[in-house]
Amino acid sequence: RLLIIDFGSQVTQLIARRLRELSVYCEIHPFNKVTDAFLADFAPKAVILSGGPASVFADGAPMPPASLWDYGVPILGICYGQQVMMHCLGGHVERGHGTAEFGRAFVTPTPAKTDLLDGWFQTDREQVWMSHGDHVSKIAPGFEVYGTSPNAPFAIIADPARRFYAVQFHPEVHHTPNGAKFYENFIRIAGFTGDWTMGAYREDAIAKIKQQVGDKRVICGLSGGVDSSVAAVLIHEAIGDQLTCVFVDHGLLRENEAAEVVKMFTENYKIPLIHADESELFLGKLNGVSDPETKRKIIGGLFIDVFQKYANGIEGAEFLAQGTLYPDVIESVSFSGGPSVTIKSHHNVGGLPEKMGLKLVEPLRELFKDEVRALGRELGLPASFIGRHPFPGPGLAIRCPGEITIEKLEILKKADAVFIDQIRKHGLYDDIWQAFVAILPVRTVGVMGDARTYDFACALRAVTSVDGMTADYYPFTHDFLGETATRIINEVQGINRVTYDITSKPPGTIEWE
Ligand code: XMP
Repeated sequence: RLLIIDFGSQVTQLIARRLRELSVYCEIHPFNKVTDAFLADFAPKAVILSGGPASVFADGAPMPPASLWDYGVPILGICYGQQVMMHCLGGHVERGHGTAEFGRAFVTPTPAKTDLLDGWFQTDREQVWMSHGDHVSKIAPGFEVYGTSPNAPFAIIADPARRFYAVQFHPEVHHTPNGAKFYENFIRIAGFTGDWTMGAYREDAIAKIKQQVGDKRVICGLSGGVDSSVAAVLIHEAIGDQLTCVFVDHGLLRENEAAEVVKMFTENYKIPLIHADESELFLGKLNGVSDPETKRKIIGGLFIDVFQKYANGIEGAEFLAQGTLYPDVIESVSFSGGPSVTIKSHHNVGGLPEKMGLKLVEPLRELFKDEVRALGRELGLPASFIGRHPFPGPGLAIRCPGEITIEKLEILKKADAVFIDQIRKHGLYDDIWQAFVAILPVRTVGVMGDARTYDFACALRAVTSVDGMTADYYPFTHDFLGETATRIINEVQGINRVTYDITSKPPGTIEWE
């Protein structure tokens, strides 16, 4: 495995992404955790030093452990990582003073040759992305220059004998178009064969789960989403019926969703499943509530109570399975008020394991979202299931502004089903991050046949996004929108007006509440 030492760059995660895409297993750890002992224990086959906002001149500047340089594995330093390498090995770094460089640059090769650049230069120059204040002004003994740019005479340097490589630019970002080739060369030099496949991960994860759990029982909270489903199927492969899934049904799921989840897990996968149908409880407590935050708090609180009640009924359970992903557990370096470490925790069932005295089983902790999908495919989960749009924990409650009633929920489910059917029929589902209907807390007047109607209005919402943090509305054709409005009004009793929400995020949010 490969160790990425994080010095606080905004793009450190991308280094891991690029390596994973090349089927190399790597982990990111913050510099202040990587001590000599940590390094020896981790036993990496290669090390990458990330970029970062600090200056090697600063008091207590972030540094790798002293033993790294004699550890004997290939090292790649990126940006701040390059400066650290030069600072430690006898080169020289200078402060910015007008030579700071941000953005696109072009690197040209020198006559010297290195394996690191095999096939990298497509033409006589290669586009890269720079982002640095300080810069290297003298390279350390043993190093040679292999690439230069007008503002970065030491853009690519290396000491091939020690297999130390360093670059001033960021090969991991999108704006360094040939960055993947660069990493491919580095990992080949380091002796990786790219054997970290999902098939291998599956075998490995199963062995680890067996070893961790032994003959004890595991409870898994199933939401119907991709992460918890993949975790459940994987754990079931490992320990069979020592696993029991608890599916809390709050009555705020989409049309037929609960039935589909129950069918898939009990019939297709034969996984023991408790269908905790508590919709009456949830809808009862939500009765008369229209404030969005109050709705969320009620649902979150009840969810934990209900889950705990059912889990307590499972005798001898010692473990709780969670679909925690790698981005939830990467410790990130933050420099506000001095270097510190912030750990993001998974908050879906926050605090529950401690409260219940359960130990955690988190078989997806090392995976990014797209890797979870790949693992799901490897485990044979249907493609339509794996590609599903995200669905929020509080469910339809936050798509029903104002008071939630059973009547409104039933109308909403039907309208939503028609909208999604339209999107699938037109082959648009996979181009859209998320699509749904929100039922508005307003009735409007219409005319159908010769009669006056007085029914609910609804809003269609469909957005494109990469991570849900920002989003733009999906540019449906007018024909599509017209056809969908007609279908909803004809097929769903209780709606007589359809609108399309064209707000981006920001300033809007994706959900209506
Ligand atoms: P917003 O509405 O904040 O949503 O733009 C961004 C993304 O997060 C989802 N979302 C949630 N997911 N629990 C979840 O598991 C929640 O409480 C929750 N609220 C919003 C939303 O569906 C979108 O994908």
